[in-house]
Parts: sequence; C-alpha cells; structure tokens
Amino acid sequence: MEKLENKFYIRTYGCQMNKYDSDIIKALLLKENFKEVSTPEEADYIFINTCAVREHAEKRAIGRLNSLKSLKKNKPETIVGVVGCMAKNHPDLIHHSVVDFLAPPDSYRNLAKWAIAKKSGYIPEGKNEQYSDIFIYPNKISSYLSITRGCNYFCSYCIVPYTRGLIRSRPPNNILKEAEWLIDGGTRELTLLGQNINAYYYKGVDFPEILKRVANLKGLKRLNFLTSHPKDIPDNLFSVMAEHNNVTNYLHLPLQSGKDSILTRMNRGYTLKDYLRIIDKARHLLDDLYLSTDIIVGFPGEKEEDFKETLKAVERIRFDQSYMFAYSDRKGTLAALLKDKVDERIKKDRLRRLIEIQNSITMEKASAFKGKKMEVLIMGEAKKGGKIGENRSGRIIIINGVAKIGSTYIVKINRINGRVPIGEIEKEV
Ligand code: 5AD
Ligand code: SF4
Repeated sequence: MEKLENKFYIRTYGCQMNKYDSDIIKALLLKENFKEVSTPEEADYIFINTCAVREHAEKRAIGRLNSLKSLKKNKPETIVGVVGCMAKNHPDLIHHSVVDFLAPPDSYRNLAKWAIAKKSGYIPEGKNEQYSDIFIYPNKISSYLSITRGCNYFCSYCIVPYTRGLIRSRPPNNILKEAEWLIDGGTRELTLLGQNINAYYYKGVDFPEILKRVANLKGLKRLNFLTSHPKDIPDNLFSVMAEHNNVTNYLHLPLQSGKDSILTRMNRGYTLKDYLRIIDKARHLLDDLYLSTDIIVGFPGEKEEDFKETLKAVERIRFDQSYMFAYSDRKGTLAALLKDKVDERIKKDRLRRLIEIQNSITMEKASAFKGKKMEVLIMGEAKKGGKIGENRSGRIIIINGVAKIGSTYIVKINRINGRVPIGEIEKEV
C-alpha cells in the first residue's frame, strides 16, 4: 500500500495579504518536511486560504469546498483545512462535510502539528502573532512583504479588524532581514503590505523611515506599498518617495465614496476635500503618479444624488485604476445594522455605471503614453509573447523583442493595446 506522505495543496482567495500569508504557511510547512503539490488530487492535506471581505469571495471559497466533496468521498483520508479570515468569522464551517479543521489568521504556527495529528476543530490563535521570524521562500522576481498585521480603524462596513485583529507592527530588523533574504534570492521588486500601512510604528520607526531603510537595500529595483489610508498619510511620505529612485510613484489610496455624509457613515475620518488635498500634494511631488483606489457603491443610505457625487469625484480625480465593489453586508460590522439598505438591482446598476466611467478614464490615460519614453524593469514573459515589465510608476508595459528578466531598459511606447502600452527597447540602463 502506498505510504501517506505530507503532500499539501494550498488554494488562495483574496488580497495580497492573503497571498503573503499562504507563503508564510508554505514556509512553515516546508520546515516540517511537507511537500507542495499542484493539484488537490495529489495532496494528503488541502488548505483553502479564504477571504471574508465581501460575500462574493466567501461564495467562491464555499464553492471550492463543495467541489471537494467527491474527492473526499474517494479519498476520505485527505485532510481539509479552512484557513484565513473565514476560519475566524464562519466557525459554522466546521460542520461542512469536507472540512476537518479551521485555522484563523494567527494560528498558522500550529497548522503542521494540527494537520499531522489529524485533529479536528478550531486551531487556537497565538497572542500578538506577527510571524516576524518567518521568512517566505524566495523564488520570485516580485515579492510581498508584510510589515503590519491587523487594523484599528473599524470602518463600519469592514470585517478585517474582527478577523485579523488590531494592528501590530513588525520590528524593523525582521523586515530588513526578510527583504535582504528575498533580494539575495532574486527578488527585484518588493511590495510592503499592511491593511493600513501608514500606521506602521515600531519604537520610534514610522512608515516613511522603514520605507527609506528598505529602499536603501542594495539590489532592490522597485519598492511599492499597500494600502494607504487618507487619514494617516505622514507629512513627509511623498518627499521620501520622491527622494528614492527605486520607490515607485504608485499610490493606492481608497476613496470609498465621493460624498462626505456617506464617508462619515462609513467611519472613514476624512472628507472629499481632505482626499483632494492629499492627491494634489502627491501629484505635485511625484512624477507621473499612478493612482489607484477602492470604491464601494450602494452603501446603506446612499441615494442617487450621493452616488452621483462619487461619479463626479471619479471624473475629477481621474484614477489610473479603481477597484469597484457593490456594498455587501458583513455580519458583526456596524454597517450591517444600518436600516436603509440599497436594493441589489440599484447597487448593480450603480456599479455598472461607475465601471463604465472608470474604464474610459483608464483607456484615455493609457493612450496618452503613446510616443513616450520610459524606464522599464522586465518582470517576466508576457502571455501572448514578448516580455512584461513595469515602469517607474508601477504601470504594466509589454515589450517586444529580446530583453532579460530583472534588467532595466529605456523603452519607447509605440502603441496601446486596450489599456496596456506596448513598446520597443531603445537601450539597457
Ligand atoms: N462591501 C463591499 N466592499 C467592501 N470592501 C470592504 N468591505 C466591504 C463590504 N462590506 C472593499 C473596500 C476595501 C476593499 C479591500 O474592499 O473598498 O477598501
Ligand atoms: Fe477595513 Fe478600514 Fe481597516 Fe481598511 S482601514 S482594513 S477598510 S477597517
């Protein structure tokens, strides 16, 4: 009979933070002699890393669990663990027929032991967990690196503070060591992660300071960070970004709504005017700023006039990219208790109208790149031939011709395909 080996398969849903968490889980499992496989059929252990931020993400993870029913029937010894945010806010998932255990975000250090022991139930979480000493496996040209976990803000629609807990900042030494480890392993682009990254603070080191220290590491060609909160932008952030050539001129700054009264009900702590002031400053100090945002439509109480304020704000600000969502109730949040919910059909219609406007802005902004020259770092092979690269603002550029991954070139954009600029190499830099 074939011996049961510690082969694991992990499937990740949700944000960059969840992708990084899956890498932490992999690092922890590899230390315990587990081996990663690429299909659930080959695995003895299946981990589904879940996201709880919107209903849609939850439905996808549940669909995935349902799809494992026949596998589990044919191979009942396979252990299935639900990890991540849904393990925290959906304890009822333990009754799902394929699920053996739940591993919430701060429990991963016990995951291997728990899985091997074939224990069922809910893995207890570590106190003040940071995974500070765990370094992810360095095998990518572009890597994530988490510098904070959790969030203190309690925006009224958001489940994150409940699933991931309050903010904890990682010691600068661990951040720098992991960054160096990743660069030594071939990483040329790092994206620092935190739910509200500007709130990073560890014994006198604030966010601009840790950004500077990481930017000064040798061999790092691009440095990005996610996600900024308009309430917490440090005064010197944009000047620190401007002073470091390898920090991309990229800012992801969620607006959420263009109407002040809705922002108040969302508990966001800023007005549209505050937001506009921040981006004026950023655009003034940073060349060719790539600005992206998150917007929720159909928040409880949002009237047609309020939504039109959001459309107006989008037309005025001209984001390069927006991540746009219809509001969905998250049980346990304050917004879920609000009475004046917006009809599903109206939410869908508003989302459609917003996407239409943003798409045309995105296209227009991309087409303005035709004829321009820029520095591009080659990140990998493009799906339809050529290479995929990023300019100094983190914008994706496709390059025709021969180019070395990890090298930087001056590229001239000669056409735009949809929203993606396509260019030819002029010279290596
Ligand atoms: N409904 C819809 N969108 C949400 N987001 C967070 N919570 C909800 C919710 N309940 C969006 C916000 C946030 C992004 C990560 O997800 O725009 O910035
Ligand atoms: Fe959620 Fe608000 Fe924290 Fe972002 S800042 S994770 S939206 S509570």
